[in-house]
Amino acid sequence: MNFLLETLRLIVLTICYHLEAFLKVIVPQRKKNVSGEIVLITGAGSGIGRLMALEFAPLDVSLVLWDINVDGLKETAKQVKEKGVSRVHYYQCDCSDREVVYRVADQTYKAFLPAMTNKNHGHLVSVASSAGLIGVNGLADYCASKFAAVGFAESMALELIAAGKEGVKTTIVCPYFINTGMFDGCGTK
Ligand SMILES: NC(=O)c1ccc[n+]([C@@H]2O[C@H](COP(=O)([O-])OP(=O)(O)OC[C@H]3O[C@@H](n4cnc5c(N)ncnc54)[C@H](O)[C@@H]3O)[C@@H](O)[C@H]2O)c1
Repeated sequence: MNFLLETLRLIVLTICYHLEAFLKVIVPQRKKNVSGEIVLITGAGSGIGRLMALEFAPLDVSLVLWDINVDGLKETAKQVKEKGVSRVHYYQCDCSDREVVYRVADQTYKAFLPAMTNKNHGHLVSVASSAGLIGVNGLADYCASKFAAVGFAESMALELIAAGKEGVKTTIVCPYFINTGMFDGCGTK
């Protein structure tokens, strides 16, 4: 009986969440107010990271930019400042090197979480990929890392809900091809 009730609950909730998602596509949602927030962007030296920095720049935030490529960081910071933003700090940082990440800014995804959960406030955004949802010919290593990113971020989201920390929001972004140079030469229908 329990199994049947659980299954019925799953089906009803699945339908409700799909309807909710569909409605949100049609009905415009109020945008989140990020005024006064600190926004840390990794990979901010080019591509999507730089675009994010430029999008956040006019929104009254303090920007913290990380990238391994210091020239790219300088260029992003310059472009952000040209938009009239003064609260921008950039740090050369190898996000794959745990020691360096701790030394440079004393924070990582893991290190941010205690402060966020204490305040029950914050937003973690993981830029994964559509290749984190389906396997792709020729992208086995990339897919493996992106499946890991999606699994990690989704589990974190559920752990936060289970802990009652619903003030800490999470977003997983799964883009298709974007013309940043990362996938130059790749073809798709
Ligand atoms: N471009 C696409 O089509 C696409 C599609 C899906 C997902 N994505 C994802 O979006 C994210 C950004 O991609 P992009 O297209 O902007 O690429 P990009 O190459 O333009 O930017 C990536 C940035 O990350 C920096 N970087 C690389 N290794 C680093 C390290 N170890 N430490 C710190 N910084 C490092 C690079 O210097 C670069 O500035 C990536 O995670 C990528 O997998 C991109």
